[in-house]
Amino acid sequence: MAAGRAGGAGAAMPRAAALLWLLLPALAALEPLSVGLAIGAASALTGFLSYPSFYCSYVECCPGEGQRLNASALRAQLAARLFGQHVARDVALRAAAGAARRRSPRKALVLSLHGWGGTGKNLLSQIVAEQLHPAGLRSRFVHLFVATLHFPHRHLVRLYQEQLQKWIQGNVSACPHSVFIFDEMDKLHPGLIDAIKPFLDYYEQVNGVSYNKAVFIFLSNAGANLINQVALDFWRSGRQREEIQLKDLESVLSVGVFNNKNSGLWHSSLIEKNLIDYFVPFLPLEHKHVKMCIRAEMLSRGHPVDEKVVEEVIEEMTFFPKEEKIYSDKGCKTVQAKLNFHWDAVMRDAKAES
Ligand SMILES: *[C@@H]1O[C@H](CO)[C@@H](O)[C@H](O)[C@H]1NC(C)=O
Ligand SMILES: *[C@@H]1O[C@H](CO)[C@@H](O)[C@H](O)[C@H]1NC(C)=O
Repeated sequence: MAAGRAGGAGAAMPRAAALLWLLLPALAALEPLSVGLAIGAASALTGFLSYPSFYCSYVECCPGEGQRLNASALRAQLAARLFGQHVARDVALRAAAGAARRRSPRKALVLSLHGWGGTGKNLLSQIVAEQLHPAGLRSRFVHLFVATLHFPHRHLVRLYQEQLQKWIQGNVSACPHSVFIFDEMDKLHPGLIDAIKPFLDYYEQVNGVSYNKAVFIFLSNAGANLINQVALDFWRSGRQREEIQLKDLESVLSVGVFNNKNSGLWHSSLIEKNLIDYFVPFLPLEHKHVKMCIRAEMLSRGHPVDEKVVEEVIEEMTFFPKEEKIYSDKGCKTVQAKLNFHWDAVMRDAKAES
């Protein structure tokens, strides 16, 4: 069916389609094949209707023209799931508010997320993506590229460039609100950065397609050491972490990221042309934030919070700097694995006893 007909829901529903709407739940109880057939029939029927709401409750649809990032929903999600990142949270909210204000944006929204591993960069991109596409990373309109996974070979850069451009073009044609997340941006070949660049720029259209409603999110460790240093300086001078403001970090980001040949070269061409709309810095996480991650992970798996286990997991993690041991080496990254390990051990013991 014609993709890209991203219209608002609630178009007039013909009688036949209304009938299908009544039948679908009944069919769902039967078997996947009949549901598939019904959805096929529905899609044939409604292809011209620009996605009525009943259809979109069974098949994921591209959000309509009026759809915007909802800042209050975003705020609630960030408060519940992203810990210890007041600066990143505020910048993300500002970006969402900005995107909501602009009825016809002049360029794609481009966020560049910086910080140590496990501090929440992936989580934040996921939360932002979910605002536009509730299925998040599973959505067919959300695309995650990991540099070392998807583009590992230098000698294939030409091929990757072509592929990537074709994908971005194809996906944005199908859904203007497509979200592209690039992880390990600092490991992405400069040739691929060049390939993405036209899509980020202030063009009305590129080859007949407008990219102004797309969202690009870049993740990297670039500048992380300098961000950590700022946090540590605040701590050592007895100031509150919450006093750290974007401006305290922006300066180190520009120096650290853009003048550092090892990690930052990729950025300079994007910076020079002002293609990045928001820099989002992630602070290193303290004990109390990692504990929040552990508790949240327990709850999300349907376990009650067990403070004894929280302490045990924390106990196994390492913290820096060597003397003060304030910040988690791996942020919250290993929390899931450590909890799995813990629960496996509990199961084993229970089996051994019985
Ligand atoms: C935004 O999200 C809030 C909280 O989830 C919700 O109450 C509100 O209706 C949403 N606004 C729009 C325009 O969707
Ligand atoms: C959309 O992107 C994916 C990669 O995430 C790719 O496999 C697919 O072919 C693209 N779709 C189009 C229509 O280009």
